[in-house]
Amino acid sequence: MSAYGVKIASTGSYIPERVVTNLDLERLVDTSDEWIQTRTGIRERHVAAEGETTSDMAAAAGRTALDRAGISPADLDLIIVATLSPDTFFPNTACYVQRKIGAGKCASFSIEAACCGFLYSLDVAASMLRGGGFKYALVIGAEKISMHVDWTDRTTCVLFGDGAGAVLLERVPADRNTFLASSLGADGNYTHLLRVPAGGSAMPITHEAIDQRENTIKMAGRETFKLAVNAMAGAAEEAMRRAGVTIDQVRWLVPHQANKRIISMVGQRLHIPEERVYINLDRYGNTSAASIPIAFDEIVRADRIAPGDTALFVAFGGGLTWAAAVVRW
Ligand code: COA
Repeated sequence: MSAYGVKIASTGSYIPERVVTNLDLERLVDTSDEWIQTRTGIRERHVAAEGETTSDMAAAAGRTALDRAGISPADLDLIIVATLSPDTFFPNTACYVQRKIGAGKCASFSIEAACCGFLYSLDVAASMLRGGGFKYALVIGAEKISMHVDWTDRTTCVLFGDGAGAVLLERVPADRNTFLASSLGADGNYTHLLRVPAGGSAMPITHEAIDQRENTIKMAGRETFKLAVNAMAGAAEEAMRRAGVTIDQVRWLVPHQANKRIISMVGQRLHIPEERVYINLDRYGNTSAASIPIAFDEIVRADRIAPGDTALFVAFGGGLTWAAAVVRW
């Protein structure tokens, strides 16, 4: 047992200005507002401006979290950015964030675990803080996922949006720990279900790959849907069991915002009333690694969580990966 625990000291988020509504998409592809809302729950999403990068959005969310906690960027020991849409393959996106927020020369790296990236990063940061060598960690989920979207493919382009969310983690004595438990997992047998085929070593970018749009998101939606419900419910149950928390003690279920029907089914499986399940995907779509920290920041800013309340985060994404965490505010 470590002498240290971890708490979420503050939150922040950033949403790019430009809104793309379902009606806008009706003009691009053969779809309808009615289909998108019924099948996904999404009404609109935000898309980053042309020159706006993932690290710009991550830095904005991170700065807000630091300001709210009254902590100077110079006090940071660690920055982790979860993203599947990095500024560049390398340097990693956290290094750009470090410079943009004016942090010192703290450890800075990125994690790619698709839509579970934020929860994986939270776990890694918490372990590092518990180790004793780090006191303040900025953990950010940030995506310019629009860069991966094929705007001619109606089966995927309606789903995603850009944005960033951040939490500032602080090392505290073990008896003040509020990061209660987590559960992470993956199944590499399903790498083919949700992916961007080109751009890595398996299929380098070529003119041909781009002509065939292999540099954009490919997804087997129906299969992903089924696996998502089981994996999210299982991870959430395991994290609650490890935390010694039951569902009636959970103030908010904060699920990854991929599809309203997935979220409802997970809520039903966990037996949590609808009014304690947080949903904002109607406004943002699926922002991948950014969705949970954006949602949690909204809850905090709206004063919809009180000190001592418990939140259950749960995510699912490409890999396939799944993750859950139980935190006390
Ligand atoms: N507008 C209109 N019609 C569309 C459409 C769109 N945007 N996208 C697909 N369709 C059509 C399909 O072509 C299909 O037509 P067909 O029956 O003539 O073949 C029909 O709608 C039904 O498609 P299907 O894929 O079975 O729909 P669905 O109910 O499974 O909903 C998703 C599709 C993508 C919304 C849903 O499968 C989903 O959300 N899956 C999980 C995706 C996810 O969460 N990914 C991220 C994980 S982090």
